[in-house]
Amino acid sequence: MIFGRVKPLEAILATAEKKSLHRTLGWFQLTLFGIGCVIGTGIFALTAAGAQKAGPGLMLAFAIAGAICIVAALCYAEVAAMIPVAGSAYTYSYAALGEFLAWTVGWALVLEYAVAASAVCVTWSDYFQGTFLREFFGVSLPTWLSAGPLALGGSPGGLINLPAVFIAGLITTLLIIGTSESAKLNAILVAIKVTALTAFIVLTLPSEQFSTANFNPFLPAGIFGGLGTGVGAVGAAATIFFAYVGFDAVSTAAEETKNPQRNVPIGLIGSLLFCTVFYIVVAAGAIGTIGGEPIMGPNGVPFPTGSEELARQCALPQYAEALVCSKEALAHVLRTIGFSAIGNMLGVAAFIALPSVILVLMFGQTRIFFVMSRDGLLPEVLSRVHPKWKTPYVVTAMTGVAVAIGAAFFPVGQLADWANAGTLFAFMMVAICVMILRRTQPNTPRSFRTPLLWLVGPATIAGCIFLFLNLPWQAILVFVVWATLGFIAYFAYGRHVSHLGRGIVDSHESGSVAVDPPVPGTR
Ligand code: ALA
Repeated sequence: MIFGRVKPLEAILATAEKKSLHRTLGWFQLTLFGIGCVIGTGIFALTAAGAQKAGPGLMLAFAIAGAICIVAALCYAEVAAMIPVAGSAYTYSYAALGEFLAWTVGWALVLEYAVAASAVCVTWSDYFQGTFLREFFGVSLPTWLSAGPLALGGSPGGLINLPAVFIAGLITTLLIIGTSESAKLNAILVAIKVTALTAFIVLTLPSEQFSTANFNPFLPAGIFGGLGTGVGAVGAAATIFFAYVGFDAVSTAAEETKNPQRNVPIGLIGSLLFCTVFYIVVAAGAIGTIGGEPIMGPNGVPFPTGSEELARQCALPQYAEALVCSKEALAHVLRTIGFSAIGNMLGVAAFIALPSVILVLMFGQTRIFFVMSRDGLLPEVLSRVHPKWKTPYVVTAMTGVAVAIGAAFFPVGQLADWANAGTLFAFMMVAICVMILRRTQPNTPRSFRTPLLWLVGPATIAGCIFLFLNLPWQAILVFVVWATLGFIAYFAYGRHVSHLGRGIVDSHESGSVAVDPPVPGTR
């Protein structure tokens, strides 16, 4: 029976007990940590892709995606406080749904973490090239080194995105030698990002160029563009969902939190609410000043983001200043309305702060692979710990290569959509886990209980399915192909070598203290 292998909760909790990390985090640090993980490519770059899908309706898209993330966060908070161990949604699923579904979640999380990290590397590269090289030094990389073959926006596709590969390599090296971001550094980076976005709001909303006419028509592509088309306000919400990815990292810090019943939900919901409001206001500033109308195809439907047709249109002089064609959306808006120097400073802020988002995402990926390998589902060589640096260097290097390949060859919009597909699946499974564990483990202590679970849980599941179906069909296809590969890998390999399948139920803690440092940005 393929759903039969459920890992006993006691074995998982034994792992948590041995870790005994100090509870030092309060709600404020958690909120800062959440904001640090969340603000990145979504707002700094995907604003352009979101506007191409929905026009001014992008603001509604931010609200829809934010609302779905908030209900998902409430589910995450209960299960994270109950099972505070590495592995996140994968580990929860192992306890609630059994090995096979846990495997599918672990497999999907590769999309959430590794592919999302690739997307952020591409944005970093765009800001590096646009602000640093072009604005400060007046140089441009040769096209073939500046972007993957299918670049988003006006430039023709290149061959390889070299700066994106560079940043992926740099972060991999830092993770291998055991560099972890301190809470203080995280606070500084959050301050930089929030200051940059606040400056953007302060300069755009009261600006002379701001015109309410730019919001009309508000929904040029409608609310529903049609399933699988990825356009309309809901299609934009499915893409811009990426702007919230990473908040689940807050739940992974549950075991380091004082009074988690109160502080974990405040941290999760506080950071999400803050970002939702901020994102909507930033989108209003961008669209109100330079407009955000999509470039429509002959059939009255916006050209797909990342498509060659859109790239051709963006190369035309009349779209030189269009928001939907820009690669550094926010810096571009400020430059267009006459604040070039501040636009460049915003570019520098993105350049400095985005690497910490990459770090958290790659760290999350290595943890998932590490735990799957420790459970015997992936080759044990992956959980090998470096004798000097005490880090899981094999799995980190492998993750780094995968992230670099994604960043080298694909455009940010597509990478973000693929990451969203995997993340939505994982969020849905977490909501299912919480409800199942309420039934199967009613007496296990929970330091936080999801309020109105029988409403919030189904709302999360429905919201995730809804956004998933509104992704572009290509992203849905990538998910299906990836899941099929996962099934094959499980039945051909994982199922036969799994520790649980071979009757080994232990917590495999030897050496894990060394590779379970606090989540980056929390200490
Ligand atoms: N939410 C993160 C970002 O937008 C992943 O970069």
